[in-house]
Amino acid sequence: MTDTDTNTETANPVAYPQDRTCPYHPPAGYDALRATRPLARVTLFDGRPAWLVTGHTTARRLLADQRLSTDRRRDGFPATSARLTAVQGRSPALLGVDDPEHRAQRKMVIPEFTLKRAAALRPRIQEIVDGRLDAMTAQGPPADLVPAFALPVPSMVICALLGVPYADHDFFEEQSRRLLRGPRPEDTREARDRLEAYLGELVDRKRRSPGEGLLDDLVRQQLAEGALDRDQLIAFAVILLVAGHETTANMISLGTFTLLRNPARLAELRADPALLPGAVEELMRMLSIADGLLRTAVEDIEVEGHTIRAGDGVVFSTSVINRDETVYPEPDVLDWHRPARHHVAFGFGIHQCLGQNLARAELEIALRSLFERLPGLRLAAPAEEIAFKPGDTIQGMLELPVAW
Ligand code: HEM
Repeated sequence: MTDTDTNTETANPVAYPQDRTCPYHPPAGYDALRATRPLARVTLFDGRPAWLVTGHTTARRLLADQRLSTDRRRDGFPATSARLTAVQGRSPALLGVDDPEHRAQRKMVIPEFTLKRAAALRPRIQEIVDGRLDAMTAQGPPADLVPAFALPVPSMVICALLGVPYADHDFFEEQSRRLLRGPRPEDTREARDRLEAYLGELVDRKRRSPGEGLLDDLVRQQLAEGALDRDQLIAFAVILLVAGHETTANMISLGTFTLLRNPARLAELRADPALLPGAVEELMRMLSIADGLLRTAVEDIEVEGHTIRAGDGVVFSTSVINRDETVYPEPDVLDWHRPARHHVAFGFGIHQCLGQNLARAELEIALRSLFERLPGLRLAAPAEEIAFKPGDTIQGMLELPVAW
């Protein structure tokens, strides 16, 4: 018998993941997990058990622990939906690779994602945001903010950065949606195949005549020098394109919804835009749109009286971790006067989000411009009736009807 069996807090596993009832709060079904921090046993969608990390200090320690692997091909790697098992044999670049390979891969792309690069991109981001707001206001209210603004802004930004033609956005946005939400495992597998075929052709075109963009730079240098082969370059392109637009789109839509539901906070932000960087950080903490970071243990790990055994699946619930009251007093309150900076909404350790500087710049510019340009912005449907995403994928709004 291991100590797993004897600890009371691990005796009654909670089901993970669950759907949220309010799009900006963790599911009520996770409340029990707050009392048993920093670790709990959970049951995954397929009935398999896993560890759920729920305490902030422990999460940061374990996310930096190289005894936890992110290689999806390992036995025991946890899946939070049937969809994920469909692509488990093909571990993504960066996110699905352990050191030392991970370090080598990250080195190839990090110069494009520094704070300095994100700052240099701000004028271009502003141009894109202004263009979308011009188009949306020209159509007149009401509008669905997701297709009119929240999705195209990050989509256009990542296209410009990578050198992917935005004219193809209907195709790659639809395949990204199917990759991340299925609903059937076959949809996810097929979406991944289609994205790979599309980006493979793009890479081949760039080999013949490289243009401007990160993918072109990778073709010119890493591919030409043999540091990356074609398949590896395609794997890079898939993760950068998908992670580069879906996540930020969800933060823009859900961030807007959350601010509209917290009018006193929104009024404060409108009166003092200097609060915006702190507000973005607090929204990141509060919304924790990427819940469920996945790892498997490659060695036994002793944690706070528990033993995570080699081969055990480990899941990090960012939404529960980011509401640890020992770090964030009154964690369910949206309050940007607190220092929210150490949240784990972008992860932590070697896989901490590559695009976080870019995402912060996009969110600041998108939210500031939206609320400045449209002082009368409001929901155009009862809040309870607006559809949002299920719990087994990145969280965000499926639609956001607004008027102004
Ligand atoms: C607000 C928007 C975003 C959120 C909430 C977010 C969240 C995350 C999280 C939680 C991780 C760590 C996953 C883990 O440890 O298992 C991650 C990794 C990653 N993100 Fe983001 N992300 C966002 C925007 C972006 C953007 C704009 C890009 C642009 C390319 C991007 C690219 C990546 C990549 C490549 C990784 C893997 C990094 C590695 O393994 O070294 N993300 N992201």
